[in-house]
Amino acid sequence: MKTARNIAIIQGSIREGRLNDTITAWTRKQLEAQGFTVSVVDPADPQLLPIQTGDTDAVAHLQTLLAPADGYVVVTPEFNHSAPGQLKTLIDSIKAEWKAKPVGFVSYGGISGGLRAVEALRPVFAELHAMTLRDSVSFAMPWGKFDEQGQITDPQMRDGAEAAMAVFGDRLRWWVDALVAARAMEPYDKAAA
Ligand SMILES: Cc1cc2nc3c(=O)[nH]c(=O)nc-3n(C[C@H](O)[C@H](O)[C@H](O)COP(=O)(O)O)c2cc1C
Repeated sequence: MKTARNIAIIQGSIREGRLNDTITAWTRKQLEAQGFTVSVVDPADPQLLPIQTGDTDAVAHLQTLLAPADGYVVVTPEFNHSAPGQLKTLIDSIKAEWKAKPVGFVSYGGISGGLRAVEALRPVFAELHAMTLRDSVSFAMPWGKFDEQGQITDPQMRDGAEAAMAVFGDRLRWWVDALVAARAMEPYDKAAA
């Protein structure tokens, strides 16, 4: 049974002044407390930003960041009832790294909590042979409910988010272990139609 479970968080917004940094910091802390080894992939990083125009060096850099991960957590806001375009472009820029690996979602937005972005991304990851987690963590109207350290200040939101994260972490661990074992038993590409 695998002990080190490497998770890459992918930030879903590159907007200046983005709330994403706060939600990502909270997510990272929660996953680390559950025993995951976590790295963060920031599409606004100058080395990754050129992915948006298909720069091959930037895409290769993304591959080196994502390939070692056993699973991914996408932290995404909702833009016009879907996921941000730059996140979709990042996802579209690579293929092999997603295959037969779990992808979980932490989302945020208005009353929807970003869930429409999550649902828009599910068929995208299915096409890429990734396994999306049914359970997610979502924040509806999160503005002003985090302090500067990324802690949730609203008790109701904190309790709900921590309960959702406990389930989410359990599911993520299960899928990481299951798919690590499955890929070791038989290369996924060989089995694919
Ligand atoms: C172009 C655009 C479209 C948006 N559309 C939605 C939407 O459909 N539903 C929603 O809940 N929030 C929507 N929002 C609000 C975002 O969820 C909110 O601004 C969020 O903080 C963006 O994430 P960020 O601060 O990390 O960039 C939209 C924001 C932008 C900029």
